[in-house]
Amino acid sequence: MLEGKNIILGICGSIACYKSAILTRLLIKAGANVKVIMTKDATHFIGPLTLSTLSKNPVYTEYFNPTTGEWNNHVDLALWAHYILIAPTSANTLAKFATGLCDNILTAVYLSAKCPVFLAPAMDLDMWKHPATRANIQKLQSYGNIVIQPGNGELASGLVGEGRMAEPEEILHFLKSQDERKLPLLGKKALVTAGPTYEAIDPVRFIGNHSSGKMGFAIAEELQRLGAKVHLISGPTSLNLSGENITRYDVVSAEDMRREVEKIFPVCDITVMSAAVADYKPKLVAENKIKKDEQEFNIKLVKTTDILSGLGRTKRDGQILVGFALETNNERENALKKLEKKNLDFIVLNSLNDKGAGFQSDTNKITIIDKHQTEETFDLKSKEEVAKDICSKILAIIK
Ligand code: CTP
Repeated sequence: MLEGKNIILGICGSIACYKSAILTRLLIKAGANVKVIMTKDATHFIGPLTLSTLSKNPVYTEYFNPTTGEWNNHVDLALWAHYILIAPTSANTLAKFATGLCDNILTAVYLSAKCPVFLAPAMDLDMWKHPATRANIQKLQSYGNIVIQPGNGELASGLVGEGRMAEPEEILHFLKSQDERKLPLLGKKALVTAGPTYEAIDPVRFIGNHSSGKMGFAIAEELQRLGAKVHLISGPTSLNLSGENITRYDVVSAEDMRREVEKIFPVCDITVMSAAVADYKPKLVAENKIKKDEQEFNIKLVKTTDILSGLGRTKRDGQILVGFALETNNERENALKKLEKKNLDFIVLNSLNDKGAGFQSDTNKITIIDKHQTEETFDLKSKEEVAKDICSKILAIIK
């Protein structure tokens, strides 16, 4: 569930720092993007190189990068994060957070954060029990911070009691369960089509189109991030994606796609048909490679089945159906016709006249028109951002 989540891992000075390396590894293995911020004291316990190697990102220890002389922008770092996790949180940093003290990059990021903050304290038994620490914890919880309780056991001081940082596996489990609770599409099934279809002419040639599949893949990943179990049916593309909640089916022709879609559609709550399905296919497919014997050569084409129209006819109440319209002229009018004819909840219109929109590019510019003809036009954005806008519309309908 932490797939694609941006996590800032703050590390304070404590012997529990050695567990932070394992924690970083677990977060990365769970698919999260991790950036580590260390206090100066933390760097005495564990080398930043270990953490930068494991996190695959530079480690931040200063406001300024001493080698490049650049400013480590604490506000940007805080806004990048979906979650901030401070593990271990020392008694000192706990007190700084509680009073709003801001004397290093970690405390500055904490104060700038808008996302959930998780604190995994680690300290000696008596420090943990001290009324000052108790008051700080209470105050931080009242601000909405989430405390991952320390464990009981042998401490570095030789004392036995509460204060040991929770084990990395426990912290990961805690984070995952908090993450799931917030997922608005948990328990929902989604179907996404992506990419082009290839219609065979003979064993080596086909009729295809320039669709890259990027838009559909970005939508599948965003739906998964929101908690849905996703079935992605993709035409030929070189794209890869990961995630335990996306099942991918590779197809070639419009007919292959129709077969797979119709199997899965009945159990799906959300269907987004972003594939550029061929509208026509050769009536006959030559068994052998066609030779260039003739001066002119004609291929007779017949219509493929309009998959989306078929879904529109059978869709049940509560099933959300989204279509795409890629137009070159009379864009709005054509999109409105498709919206109605295919019985869609909304249609995503993109025009080839908009620079940076459509096939192959990493960006897209869309207008969403829903069945009540409410219309929203968005700026040119990365396809990942466009996927977020499309999924926000889905969420608004589901609520
Ligand atoms: N679509 C489909 N099956 C087809 C053709 C299209 O399911 N055989 C879906 C696409 O995935 C898209 C929507 O229908 O979501 C619109 O496709 P488009 O080709 O733009 O529209 P058409 O209805 O085919 O009309 P035209 O090609 O004439 O513009």
